[in-house]
Amino acid sequence: MRNFLQAVVSLSLLICVNAAVSWIATPFNPPAFPLAVRSPYLSAWLPQGSGAALNAQWPTFWTGQIVGWAGFVKVDGKAFSFLGTPNVPGATFAQAVQKSSKFTSTQSIFVLSAGPVDLTITFLSPVEPTDLVKQSIPFSYMAVSAASTDGASHSVQVYSDISAEWVSGDNGLVASWSTTTGSIITHKVQLVNQALFSEVNDHTQYGSAYYSVSNAAGTTFQSGADVVVRAQFINNGKLPNTQDTNFRAISNNWPVFGLSRDLGTVTSALTDPVVFSVGHVRDPAINYIVNNGALQARSLYFWSQFSSVNDVISSFLGDFKNALSRAQTFDNKVQSDANKISADYASIVALSIRQALGATEITISKNADGSFNTNDVIVFMKEISSDGNVNTVDVIFPAWPALLYANPQLGKFLLEGLFRYQASGQYPNKWSVHDLGAHYPNATGHNDGNDEAMPVEESGNMLIMALSYAQKTNDLSQLKQYTSLLDQWTQFLIEDSLIPANQISTDDFAGSLANQTNLAIKGIIGIKAMSQIAQLVGNPAQSANYSSIASKFVSQWQTLATSTTGPHLTLAYGNSASWGLSYNLYADKLLKLNLFPQSVYQMQTAWYKTVAQPFGVPLDTRHTYTKSDWEIWTSGIMTDAVGRDLFISSVKKFASDGLSSQPFGDWYETTNGGPEGFRARPVVGGHLGA
Ligand SMILES: *[C@@H]1O[C@H](CO)[C@@H](O)[C@H](O)[C@H]1NC(C)=O
Ligand SMILES: *[C@@H]1O[C@H](CO)[C@@H](O)[C@H](O)[C@H]1NC(C)=O
Ligand SMILES: *[C@@H]1O[C@H](CO)[C@@H](O)[C@H](O)[C@H]1NC(C)=O
Repeated sequence: MRNFLQAVVSLSLLICVNAAVSWIATPFNPPAFPLAVRSPYLSAWLPQGSGAALNAQWPTFWTGQIVGWAGFVKVDGKAFSFLGTPNVPGATFAQAVQKSSKFTSTQSIFVLSAGPVDLTITFLSPVEPTDLVKQSIPFSYMAVSAASTDGASHSVQVYSDISAEWVSGDNGLVASWSTTTGSIITHKVQLVNQALFSEVNDHTQYGSAYYSVSNAAGTTFQSGADVVVRAQFINNGKLPNTQDTNFRAISNNWPVFGLSRDLGTVTSALTDPVVFSVGHVRDPAINYIVNNGALQARSLYFWSQFSSVNDVISSFLGDFKNALSRAQTFDNKVQSDANKISADYASIVALSIRQALGATEITISKNADGSFNTNDVIVFMKEISSDGNVNTVDVIFPAWPALLYANPQLGKFLLEGLFRYQASGQYPNKWSVHDLGAHYPNATGHNDGNDEAMPVEESGNMLIMALSYAQKTNDLSQLKQYTSLLDQWTQFLIEDSLIPANQISTDDFAGSLANQTNLAIKGIIGIKAMSQIAQLVGNPAQSANYSSIASKFVSQWQTLATSTTGPHLTLAYGNSASWGLSYNLYADKLLKLNLFPQSVYQMQTAWYKTVAQPFGVPLDTRHTYTKSDWEIWTSGIMTDAVGRDLFISSVKKFASDGLSSQPFGDWYETTNGGPEGFRARPVVGGHLGA
């Protein structure tokens, strides 16, 4: 009886944690669909929880705040909503019915039935890692095409709008807007009172949002109150080409920016898509500390090729067909590469790539004559959701596998800002800085040395990433330029990595601890990495010295770090009952160092199988939560496929369990698959680490 009850209980648990949606979800229904995810400030998602159709939720910024984005279609005079949940008093419309959803590395694709016509809505957030111009353009596409499903022809008009919620985190602030026509119709909207480099609720407070469509035959526009503009389309199937010039607060009779296209007669052949572009541009993008505390305003890379946003939009919209074809090539490559491990793995990777790159911006400075200097590239990354820091070393580090896969140059450019700042001599500590600034987009450094100290963590991370980039590309320039900084951090690791002082690691939420086994691994690998760096830059004597120190440390570490009561590494020396994910061993594999003995890998592989919870192996014995990035890194150090797949399937199970409506969270409970607070963080780039 007890067993029967337990079976019933676990069966019902199983049902409630498996998101059962009424449409076909490929590869699974995620916590949130990326809709327009290109930068820390162009980040629109469709929250899911246990499942929400495209027209059953408003799109939200990564924080969960609504960004108004609506869509209607008229079929033979009958209106259907397909995007967002607008309320339009006095106008009658039905809900299109979602038939399928799909995500790839670059696209989220929905099919909804509007009576006898199916709409295919493709949200394409390009991932163009090897084209710095295209990757730096903070725009995304929504393409809508239609096909008749009943054999008959139908008259179809498509409509979409955005609200002014795209330009601030405070809907009480006053916005202004304008519409330009020509070969493209563009609505532009911004705050009346802008604040350079500022944020409210993580939204930027300067720059403008743009919503555009090509001005093909049958295209109309209108700006005005949400209920007015939407009712106009619902009742008439077109817009009157008028502008509302009563500039007001974002939430005051909600101004929206509508665009509509008459597709004419639609048959069973899928129409060419109506392609909308949505973007947010601010200039300068980043405030970066240079020598002697001076601040340098840096612009997005695309400005080296364009002189106006209208030119950018024209190029972006005109490029849709090619962009889609490049995206499909990229999606297929990711899919086939990741499928070599497993289908579960491929699905996790596909959900992670836009999110990882969507936290970054590629910038350049200006020459003295005001022209852009494309020889001076620095990439910036926002530590989204946890604290907003700029270029946090231990956030770039977990994201590193995605950067290496997409384009290692992006990794080099992310490290460059950190190297250059510390080489300027303004940062006072002997270890590596934690980040370039307490809040994005102010990369103003920490000249007081009071950044969140993670001495072993960040020093090891910098050494590992710098060597990893050089190994991958054979480009030694960064190693040569910053050898003395790298050596300075190594000297620190020699002092503090075998017996790490009481300090936090990247998992700062878990608290500080002395003698952390996993942190020691990081530090020792850092020393060995410097041995290889010394070899590469032509210092074989130093290389041999550091190599022998690292090897000596490994054997001492093995004695200190192995539990005396069970076959596993400890969380901290001397606490034999403790254990944790020794994900830092991943760097030994990544750099092909063979520094730690195979027996350690075998021991950990066997151990984790005995301590896994329903949603994976806990981060360590202090709590039952874990981190998805470290689960996947640990999968990468397993010595057998069963061990590897245990971690991968756990992360997939979490991502598909229907308990979260936040953009892919990396911190979650292993016991029940519930999400913790982190969301939309670039560390999901670590999901490429298996
Ligand atoms: C960046 O620095 C400027 C100038 O000090 C400040 O006004 C702004 O609020 C800062 N931005 C953030 C996001 O903290
Ligand atoms: C760290 O480990 C070393 C070596 O076992 C030991 O001497 C030291 O007391 C430990 N430190 C702390 C704070 O426990
Ligand atoms: C090896 O490096 C350590 C740490 O920098 C240094 O103290 C020692 O003198 C070096 N040994 C040799 C032989 O260079």
